[in-house]
Amino acid sequence: MKVAILGMGTVGSGVMEIIQMNRPEIERQIGTSFSISHVLVRDRYKERGVELGGVTITDDVDEIHAADIDVVAEVMGGVASTRDMLLGFLQKGVHVISANKDMLAEHIDELSEAANRSGAMLMYEASVAGGIPIINGISQGLNANRIQEVMGILNGTTNYILTKMTGEGWDYEKALDAAKEKGYAEADPTNDVAGFDAQRKIVLLSRLAYNRKVDIGKVGTQGIDSVELGDIKAGSNAGLTMKLIGRSAFHDDQLSIEVAPVFLPDDHQLSSVSDEKNAVYIRGNAVGETMFYGPGAGGRETASAVVSDLISCLRRMERVEQNLVPAYEAAITEDVSPKR
Ligand code: NDP
Ligand code: HSE
Repeated sequence: MKVAILGMGTVGSGVMEIIQMNRPEIERQIGTSFSISHVLVRDRYKERGVELGGVTITDDVDEIHAADIDVVAEVMGGVASTRDMLLGFLQKGVHVISANKDMLAEHIDELSEAANRSGAMLMYEASVAGGIPIINGISQGLNANRIQEVMGILNGTTNYILTKMTGEGWDYEKALDAAKEKGYAEADPTNDVAGFDAQRKIVLLSRLAYNRKVDIGKVGTQGIDSVELGDIKAGSNAGLTMKLIGRSAFHDDQLSIEVAPVFLPDDHQLSSVSDEKNAVYIRGNAVGETMFYGPGAGGRETASAVVSDLISCLRRMERVEQNLVPAYEAAITEDVSPKR
């Protein structure tokens, strides 16, 4: 089975590292071997800081189309041209994995329809909340529920900035520079700090949670770009912690959805979610309240979600090939019980 990775920056190099680190375990789960045959980048000659021996590095997507690839993992960003590129793959029946919330929040409905028409899979676990398995959590773990509310911290960069401003007294610029340095922020961090990154994520989660199309243009969105250290200190003195919160609720066929900075009591569970961590509450009519917590940004952390989608996709392909019913787990054959 052949895979192409579109993009080899912070997340793409994390994907390569995880595959190199865990290949035997990954292939045991899939039930067969696979290769990363192509990587698409803008600059073929740039040093990537990751082992790419045996991989064809190209700046021409047609080379990937010609190579009879089974799955593409898109970790490059971009909206309109990336939508066109991924649509081209889906229409041919190539399975697509994407971490690209900017593009997905606008175009997921048409990509999903194209996938349904061709029988390809469209997977996007990494697009929301980095390494936290929230897409799988909603779409598989909680699908017995009518979900009523989704609420939480969905952007690692702003949570890192707010944590450093609150705890260390850093000013906004210093905290943003550190978030960029750590690979949490987008290439252009405007969408992070202005709340649009969290807006895209609450749209993707809400679409899945309520099984409804969600118009991104209708999501009231406010970021932290005008927050000052004085505001945060005033909150701290009153026992309050500022967090950027995305929230949606679905009740009586009515959706309410917004992103805004909110002061929470210091003893609220979300107040202790620090640095680039994300946390999301999901409330369902059967399960009640559940909470998902973990790294919301970062190369290897996000790559964990991309590789997880890749394993699920390749495992499903392999089982279809073998005329087996797609299953929750891989064929578990080895016994590692303790010897007495
Ligand atoms: P980077 O900017 O670090 O890497 C982007 C990569 O894509 C680069 O290798 C770049 O090539 C390549 N690329 C960009 N545009 C094109 C194009 N038009 N054609 C070919 N190659 C292209 O981004 P990240 O790895 O940080 O993010 C990638 C995606 O993952 C984005 O959609 C982002 O929103 C998402 N994401 C990122 C997270 C993070 O923590 N960083 C977390 C969750 C999602 P070159 O190097 O040659 O310029
Ligand atoms: N820039 C994003 C964030 C990356 O800070 O949350 C993860 O989607």
